[in-house]
Amino acid sequence: MKKKLLKIKTTESDYSIIIGNNILSALPKKIKILCPKAQKIAIIFDKKIPTKFKSKIKKLLKSYQVYLYEFRSSEKVKSIIYVNKITENILSKNFNRSDTIIAVGGGIIGDLSAFVASIVKRGINFINIPTTLLAQVDSSIGGKTGVNSIYGKNLIGSFYQPKLVLIDVSFLKSLPKREMICGFAEILKHSLILETNLFQWLENTSKKILNGRDLRVISEAIYKSCKVKLYFVKNDYKEKNLRMILNFGHTFAHAIEAENKFSGKINHGEAVLIGMIMAIRLSVIKKTCSKKALIKIGKIYKDNNLLSKFKNYLKKKNFNKIINYMANDKKNDDKKINLILLKKIGKTTMPGKFKFSSKQLKKQIPKLLNFNF
Ligand SMILES: NC(=O)c1ccc[n+]([C@@H]2O[C@H](COP(=O)([O-])OP(=O)(O)OC[C@H]3O[C@@H](n4cnc5c(N)ncnc54)[C@H](O)[C@@H]3O)[C@@H](O)[C@H]2O)c1
Repeated sequence: MKKKLLKIKTTESDYSIIIGNNILSALPKKIKILCPKAQKIAIIFDKKIPTKFKSKIKKLLKSYQVYLYEFRSSEKVKSIIYVNKITENILSKNFNRSDTIIAVGGGIIGDLSAFVASIVKRGINFINIPTTLLAQVDSSIGGKTGVNSIYGKNLIGSFYQPKLVLIDVSFLKSLPKREMICGFAEILKHSLILETNLFQWLENTSKKILNGRDLRVISEAIYKSCKVKLYFVKNDYKEKNLRMILNFGHTFAHAIEAENKFSGKINHGEAVLIGMIMAIRLSVIKKTCSKKALIKIGKIYKDNNLLSKFKNYLKKKNFNKIINYMANDKKNDDKKINLILLKKIGKTTMPGKFKFSSKQLKKQIPKLLNFNF
């Protein structure tokens, strides 16, 4: 399989995303070029990464002073307490700005490590090796770093760009199906908000992506999906307007996760799948989008049994609470709930165009729950 390359230019720095199968061996050469003065490397691993990858990376970097950190990924790890632990430890080893931090894990390890990299000595080299499909198509791209606060998810953070994102699809061989679904939710979102062609391609490939075996199709999906995310990031790096379209379905999703107390009963991607369907149903109700589009999108859900958990988590009695959570979303700039709706497959409404009071949204509950899809 041929490697794929995406080059990103930001106002702060330029970096590349490399996508391929078994490409970790490129790492030492890349570090030499991108972090020429690095002597020390801190590698922050997700505990669930198979040992063979850890051994391989350690071996590849044997000419550096390597310090290993390993964490069991959970939203609790994404906290200022862990930031403090890692930062103090790295400082005790006398790391300086030309040294490097490498994250090897999903979005949790990536967000945490990138945030640490952004604050150690006001910013040291950072390389991201995302190992979940979600991290490969979403969280490793765009420079948003951060940890959770007792007041909510991702409320402490920074914008900070990596020197390199190395996406090796061979990590996905050990990824549970449930996590593949999470990544797929973001790929599907990317197709809905910008790329009709990607959606049409997904109509034929969704099964292959979700069963996780065809790494060639998966790397193609990652490449196509990253391009969509980069389009929004490039045009609105600091999330002032356009980039908010990437939140399509996410206001519902965050509320569903919060209502479930981020318990893991329902994970982020599953909530996004429900959130997108809710946003599309609302789009049909508000007549921004046709029912035909909803049915087309619904077919991908049906074909892959993506809404099996839907009934348990979106009961009528919970919906009021969900809407209350939505009203508190940090992305609202006033008391109203700011939603991105779908116009057609590949195009959404602009941020700020559709705002609902909780009362207005609660009125729609019976209709929202009364769709076949
Ligand atoms: N920075 C951003 O722009 C951005 C965007 C989207 C999401 N996020 C954040 O990303 C996080 C979610 O990321 P995630 O879905 O990757 O979750 P995660 O990091 O928790 O990983 C999911 C699970 O997969 C395991 N895992 C990771 N790699 C594995 C592998 N190769 N094989 C087997 N198991 C593996 C992890 O241990 C964990 O149990 C959230 O905290 C979310 O806020 C950030």
